[in-house]
Amino acid sequence: MDIKALVLRMTLEEKASLCSGGDFWHTKAVERLGIPATMVSDGPHGLRKQDQQADHLGVNESIKAVCFPAACATAASFDRDLLARMGQAIGDSCQHEGVSVVLGPAVNIKRSPLCGRNFEYFSEDPYLTGKLAAAYIRGVQSRNVGVSIKHFAANNQEHRRMSSSSDVDERTLREIYFPGFEIPVKEARPWTVMCSYNRLNGVFASENPWLLTDVLRKEWGFDGYVMSDWGAVSDRVAGVAAGLDLEMPASGGVNDRKLVAAVREGRLEESKLDEACERILSIVYRFTESARPDTPWDMEAQHLLSAQIAEECMVLLKNGDGLLPLDKSDAVAFIGEFAERPRYQGGGSSHINSFKTTGALEAARGLNVTYARGYDAAADSADDALIAEAVAAAKAARVAVVFAGLPDSYESEGYDRRHMRLPECQNRLIDAVAGANANTVVVLHNGSPVQMPWIGRVKAVLEAYLGGQAVGLATVRVLFGDANPCGHLPETFPKKLSDNPSYLFYGGEPRGTEYREGVFVGYRYYDKKEMDVLFPFGHGLSYTRFEFSNLRLSADAIRDTDTLAATVTVKNVGPRPGKVAVQLYVGRGEGGDVIRPLRELKGFEKVALDSGEARDVVFTLDKRAFATWNTDMRDWCVESGDYTVEAGASSRDLPVSAAVRVEGTVHPPRHYDMNSIFMDIMADPRGREALEPLMAKIGAMLAPEEEGSSASEAITSDMSMAMMQYMPLRGIVSFGGGGLPDGFLDELLEKING
Ligand code: GLC
Repeated sequence: MDIKALVLRMTLEEKASLCSGGDFWHTKAVERLGIPATMVSDGPHGLRKQDQQADHLGVNESIKAVCFPAACATAASFDRDLLARMGQAIGDSCQHEGVSVVLGPAVNIKRSPLCGRNFEYFSEDPYLTGKLAAAYIRGVQSRNVGVSIKHFAANNQEHRRMSSSSDVDERTLREIYFPGFEIPVKEARPWTVMCSYNRLNGVFASENPWLLTDVLRKEWGFDGYVMSDWGAVSDRVAGVAAGLDLEMPASGGVNDRKLVAAVREGRLEESKLDEACERILSIVYRFTESARPDTPWDMEAQHLLSAQIAEECMVLLKNGDGLLPLDKSDAVAFIGEFAERPRYQGGGSSHINSFKTTGALEAARGLNVTYARGYDAAADSADDALIAEAVAAAKAARVAVVFAGLPDSYESEGYDRRHMRLPECQNRLIDAVAGANANTVVVLHNGSPVQMPWIGRVKAVLEAYLGGQAVGLATVRVLFGDANPCGHLPETFPKKLSDNPSYLFYGGEPRGTEYREGVFVGYRYYDKKEMDVLFPFGHGLSYTRFEFSNLRLSADAIRDTDTLAATVTVKNVGPRPGKVAVQLYVGRGEGGDVIRPLRELKGFEKVALDSGEARDVVFTLDKRAFATWNTDMRDWCVESGDYTVEAGASSRDLPVSAAVRVEGTVHPPRHYDMNSIFMDIMADPRGREALEPLMAKIGAMLAPEEEGSSASEAITSDMSMAMMQYMPLRGIVSFGGGGLPDGFLDELLEKING
């Protein structure tokens, strides 16, 4: 279809009309020109297609579909291929159902454990988020179905989400909150982007030209269309001018008329409207011209795929005495309502109408497993009778497995959590069961970190997260050893909420929330502060063991324009096959001007190894692995210095490291004046060259008085060195006793500034 020619034939009213939804889930048709409507639907971990009453909060029914593990779980796989496979399956369901764009992935960074939608997001780390989201997008779009990567940007809380301003400095945006979008936009080219509800530094994302045009399009090269989150539009005219192409769901024509009036009155260039229409139509026809409604959708097969995916995401947090895996002849008590009716997804727009669910109890049929309900998932208060029944079951079994986690009411789209605790009835149950049976295991279903006051009293903990509709199948396979757990935490579990770096400011005040922790999000904060955590980012145990050795770099010194290869050998030294997420972190040692985290994830690979098998894993590091965002240059900048590359199976289990000297080739422009201090000038080769010849004389001028005088006793050599270093150039005048020739300093500055 010749899109430009088509737009030229459109009237102003038709153009304005195309820039808002035809209804809750469709773009507009333009009958006169044969332009079809296309459907968009949630997302992200399954298809929520509503063909009756529509809503964006998961209230009304949607068609039966397959609920895959949520992003909190799939991120724990650290496995790009797994995300791609899931994306392909969702893409097939969309083709089958005639859905042109699936509204996901959701890539907002987990700034705090309190965010109600954390279950739908990947990680506290931007690199892991971006790389896995890119894989998911490639998977979906391989079926010629689009995605809408969301919510752009800095939508990290549900509290006041439609009005609050996320106040974030640019370096923090660039290094933490943007890469989850930047990496996929550059590597996987999403068909659409969804802007968020919130303001960003005071300007709504839905009308923020810096965000939607300067950064997203001009810098990152995005070439699809931007849609609003549902109801996120404030000023539609400003939105079109800023780069918001499609208002969803619609404004019943109100905003369409405003666009027409704005063009007529010269407040909006019609060319902006043309651009928006071209972008929307390019995606509409990209789908419709190759739609494949005959694509099969085998839900039963996808149910098993969902179980396979869930298996690969489970994180074995603790396994005392090697209690797991269980033997199938063991007498085992399954305790807790989630064993029968697992919590496997979150509330809100991502809520899928699963065509079936398999809980652990059902999956364990035929095994020597008893059941006790233990608690009422909808209640907070403990039920003594249920606990007593559970204790009896625990006493009668060799192993007691408590299925616990967060009830739907504890975390959801639309509101934030108020604390990190499990329901009191569950904590009490776990304590009671652990008191009755030393071999107690806890299986968790939660979308975000929880406190575990009983952690020292239970032998094993398996984090199943929100593992999709077949999570029970996966859990039983892992518990009894048919599958070897290989998930790694995509977020830190802090010991308590107030340890979290955003704790003082999260949720903000009525006007907005300040991201005062800056780049120190998650492990970047806990590591820098040398804090103990409950479980660190990247942590995950296995039923086998892995050893890392021989980390070697392709060079011991590079320029920031080079790439560096880092190779590490990983070996399965345990008794059975297994998979491990090999993680690579980069950090700059002491020194340097830039305040930065100790280490940051810059590579990961999921590796499957048979017992005894070893393999070299190779990572390629480019400039961005060493760079930070320089706000003066407004660009990425590598500070020359010595960097450390570390590899291992967790951010706190990095047995091998290597050093590399990196020479930055681009430096922020340096201009010195009278107030520039000697330390900075002398650190600059050009400045040193100009100052060196004078230093002896200057030092004498600024040196302490003769030995023995009362003044010299007070001034140590360290102090005089410090005074010298931090002295501004004008100090020569103040302490030079007037002996300087006129114009001396001006000439000196000219030399220093070259
Ligand atoms: C919701 C969500 C968004 C979803 C959209 C449509 O409010 O914020 O993620 O895709 O509306 O349901």
